[in-house]
Amino acid sequence: IRVLAVASEVYPIVKTGGLADVVGALPAALKQHGVTTRTLVPGYPDVLKALASAETLLHWPEFYGGPIRVLGGTHDGLDLFALDAPHLYARPGNPYVGPDGRDWPDNGIRFAALSRMAAEIGQGAITSFVPDIVHAHDWQAGLAPALLHYAGQPRPGTVMTVHNLAYQGQFSPDMLAAFGLPSESYALHGVEYYGTISLLKAGLQFADRITTVSPTYAREIQSDEGGMGLGGLLRERADVLSGILNGIDISVWNPATDPDIAARFSSEQPADRAVNKAALQRRFGLDPTPDAMLLGVISRLSWQKGLDLLLENIPTLLGEGIQLALLGSGDRDLQDRYAALARDNPGRIAVVIGYDEALAHLIQAGADALAVPSRFEPCGLTQLCALRYGAVPVVANVGGLADTVLDFDEVAITGDAPTGVKFAPVTSDALAHGLRKANLLFNDKVTWRRLQQAGMATDVSWHNRAGRYAALYRELATTRR
Ligand code: ADP
Ligand code: GLC
Repeated sequence: IRVLAVASEVYPIVKTGGLADVVGALPAALKQHGVTTRTLVPGYPDVLKALASAETLLHWPEFYGGPIRVLGGTHDGLDLFALDAPHLYARPGNPYVGPDGRDWPDNGIRFAALSRMAAEIGQGAITSFVPDIVHAHDWQAGLAPALLHYAGQPRPGTVMTVHNLAYQGQFSPDMLAAFGLPSESYALHGVEYYGTISLLKAGLQFADRITTVSPTYAREIQSDEGGMGLGGLLRERADVLSGILNGIDISVWNPATDPDIAARFSSEQPADRAVNKAALQRRFGLDPTPDAMLLGVISRLSWQKGLDLLLENIPTLLGEGIQLALLGSGDRDLQDRYAALARDNPGRIAVVIGYDEALAHLIQAGADALAVPSRFEPCGLTQLCALRYGAVPVVANVGGLADTVLDFDEVAITGDAPTGVKFAPVTSDALAHGLRKANLLFNDKVTWRRLQQAGMATDVSWHNRAGRYAALYRELATTRR
């Protein structure tokens, strides 16, 4: 089976969040299931640099306002196609926003072009790689299934994966023709969304199969509340919608070999976590007490992540003697409020505002617990890294967090070993309760060790989860033949 994956970011070249991690790690895992993947990404400056010795596969004088090439090459084991379109992507920095912090005004065209190229490759534009399946990730690739639908037969099967329903890619209806869509597509059962064109809806409406990144999120998005305006469509298409959990790259996230942490450790030899805790306390300027529970956070600072609720719980942390080490960036207001609290509570509350991949590893290795108080969470990856590194996750009972962490209260019946603490509903009070519960468990050394060990023994790898994608691709390819 040959799959063309289409996405706007890919680890380790361009990353703003978990989407990049998934797009970067899935192909290697799929290979073990007999699936060959090429990933089409925009030719941002960093992508072109990574593909410096790539081959030119296509060269067109005009494509959405300028000349383009498609380059094919490999980087870090990934087989990539890059859409080199200087008029669209030769811009430094963040892939979506300009230096003023606002979305690039031509984002609609930028990602329509990416999706259109996916559709072209899907229909054989690159003879050396004609895919059986085009797999679109998030709204930036959402037009690809729609364009392939209107292209008619023969065409590859299409899969649309929702990593986050909150980002829908809405643009003015004036763009219909520029996006390459026929006028009849601007309809309720088409790409029309409350008077706009929604590129995510385009993908959800026309893809042969829809997936999202956890079974619980797959259910949540079919409700009016979780559906964010698309619940009705997703209910109508429930028979082709499924949830497949994300994994993490267990070679990048491996405490036994991790070059970014102070001391390597494993579930057999967890004692060296203490060295990492001390290093983390030093790095964040926290009091060097081994006995205080050290709570870590690694997150975008946005409404989704519920970190305003943790902010309201600083008194809970101080009262319980819990230390906080937070690494994050995003909302200006949250950044400022966290920075102010750190100034007021030296040695106990510490914050690094920014994006720092290496520091994220040290937090996972040194924190006793990791908080993820998200209001909604399609899957979430930091709790998976936490499990693998023996940081006990304290999570909101939503989406993929609900599916990947086991709390004492729920394993009583199944007999599974608990791996963390869950709280519900997602309120400040329930979070306070979860934090106190975690601290109580932390102070019972035997129980805490059991939680850590069960977490570290949890399979968070891609292997089995990639097998679910492979099965989906095969099923789709067979039914279309
Ligand atoms: P989302 O994609 O919604 O942001 P995920 O949990 O799926 O959430 O993925 C977030 C990814 O980004 C993880 O790999 C996490 O380690 C990383 N990350 C988030 N914020 C930071 C940060 N400030 N510094 C370093 N890594 C971060
Ligand atoms: C999104 C979601 C996150 C998920 C990631 C990768 O960014 O917010 O929950 O883990 O995509 O699928």
